[in-house]
Amino acid sequence: SLLLPSREALATWILVPQVCSSFAAGPRQYDGTFYEFHTYCLKPSKMNEFLENFKKNIRLQTAHSELVGYWSVEFGGRVNKAFHIWKYDNFTHRTEVRKALAKDKKCEEQFLIPNLALIDKQESEITYPVPWCGPALWGDAFKRALNAHVNRGYSKLVGVFHTEYGALNRVHVLWWNESADSRAAGRHQSHEDPRVMAAVRKSVNYLVSQENMFLIPTSFSPLK
Ligand SMILES: *[C@@H]1O[C@H](CO)[C@@H](O)[C@H](O)[C@H]1NC(C)=O
Ligand SMILES: *[C@@H]1O[C@H](CO)[C@@H](O)[C@H](O)[C@H]1NC(C)=O
Repeated sequence: SLLLPSREALATWILVPQVCSSFAAGPRQYDGTFYEFHTYCLKPSKMNEFLENFKKNIRLQTAHSELVGYWSVEFGGRVNKAFHIWKYDNFTHRTEVRKALAKDKKCEEQFLIPNLALIDKQESEITYPVPWCGPALWGDAFKRALNAHVNRGYSKLVGVFHTEYGALNRVHVLWWNESADSRAAGRHQSHEDPRVMAAVRKSVNYLVSQENMFLIPTSFSPLK
């Protein structure tokens, strides 16, 4: 269900720590599947060159590793940023993939090394899809806030993830809409909807801060 066609906005919620730890103790994905979120800050004016190399050569990496989506960050946060999600069955699987990549000379020479020269900074987070079950109080509050938006038809939800490794106490929510303008109009409408606002007010009690990024899928992104 994560693989819906999409054009995305990613909201990152930073939660109060005790709320997140109660959640981390909650029920987990049973099959071990996780998603690795990568953010690359590119050197100034290197975005086009970087994306061109990706378009041409990404198959060298996807031969080993499952790409979920690849976006350029249009606004929100730093410009010149690329954001991508990779899927792994479990940590052993990830280790195997990385071993295979390290052995693949063609991939290294044509793809990985040229990319590295264009990247200024990279961040990675390991995330699990949020299970939304169990008694965790805040989980219910967020679920209600999200569902209020979804049920009223304001947005299409692609996935909700929480961090396991990386910056902790974070929940990432990926939404789809056809354009930034229709999303802006939808948000405006939803903010005038008392049912949505009541649900959002409850979930806000568990938030330290939040940030949004608007994402444009690249031509080679499986999620669009
Ligand atoms: C990890 O995933 C691989 C498939 O990529 C599978 O063959 C293996 O059984 C899984 N290991 C565990 C411990 O689940
Ligand atoms: C996009 O936003 C508009 C509101 O402007 C809304 O009517 C529409 O349902 C949204 N589309 C999706 C797929 O969420």
